[in-house]
Amino acid sequence: MALFTKKIDDTDQTLDLKIPHHLAIIMDGNGRWAKKRLLNRVAGHKVGVDAVKKITIAAQAMGVEVLSLYAFSTENWSRPQDEVSFLMKLPISFFERFVPDLIANNVRMQAMGDLTALPVATQKAVADAVQATQKNTGMILNFALNYGGQADIIQATQSLVEQVKTGQLDASQIDQEHFEAALQTASLGDLANPDLVIRTSGEQRLSNFLTYQSAYSELYFTDTLWPDFDQQDLQKAIESYTKRDRRFGGLNVRK
Ligand code: FPP
Repeated sequence: MALFTKKIDDTDQTLDLKIPHHLAIIMDGNGRWAKKRLLNRVAGHKVGVDAVKKITIAAQAMGVEVLSLYAFSTENWSRPQDEVSFLMKLPISFFERFVPDLIANNVRMQAMGDLTALPVATQKAVADAVQATQKNTGMILNFALNYGGQADIIQATQSLVEQVKTGQLDASQIDQEHFEAALQTASLGDLANPDLVIRTSGEQRLSNFLTYQSAYSELYFTDTLWPDFDQQDLQKAIESYTKRDRRFGGLNVRK
């Protein structure tokens, strides 16, 4: 358990923060951030990427081991064409600028979701960033791109059915371990399930993010819009998480 001691007020009172091993964030509110400033929606996404950068570096410094960010959902394709097209191009310029920071901070990037549906240049930008950071040994930054929790469960089911059909697996052997090994988060092993899911912008739902994996996650909702979400907001979320009593269906289990 990573501990991060923080002075919480002007007194000498300190709180040992319990850092979530796997932190997942639903980055919401870019559009509203822009609208409040009479800007178009894409201006919100442009500022949203700066928050991605700041929060990645802050999370790594605090000792988070996996940071999963919901960047584009399987449902986001239904947005206006110009916004989808902007969001698809965003990773190309962003990763180019961001990779040196990832390397400097020993962060390893990976991506989950159906990447094959992304434009080829976007797929390449993602693959290049994954490749350039693959030797880093610090925090894993896991981008969800064209990801949906239900689609993840369906593709895992299809892959298990295929294994049963080819005789590699007997249907009676399918248990939690086999199922989890077929999900998009399998490479994260013990860290596949987020300990804490944060959603910005006041909405209180998971919107198809890590549906299976968040079964026992602690949830934290804040009214702060994603472009305004900063290190202090992250600390507040982690303070709230620190005070939670996670029981995983049992009695008073502190992890
Ligand atoms: C939700 O805000 C945000 C998104 C759907 C996109 C999130 C993407 C980023 C922050 C950019 C970083 C991603 C990469 C891969 C570089 P919204 O548009 O739904 O806001 P609204 O609810 O206020 O309309």
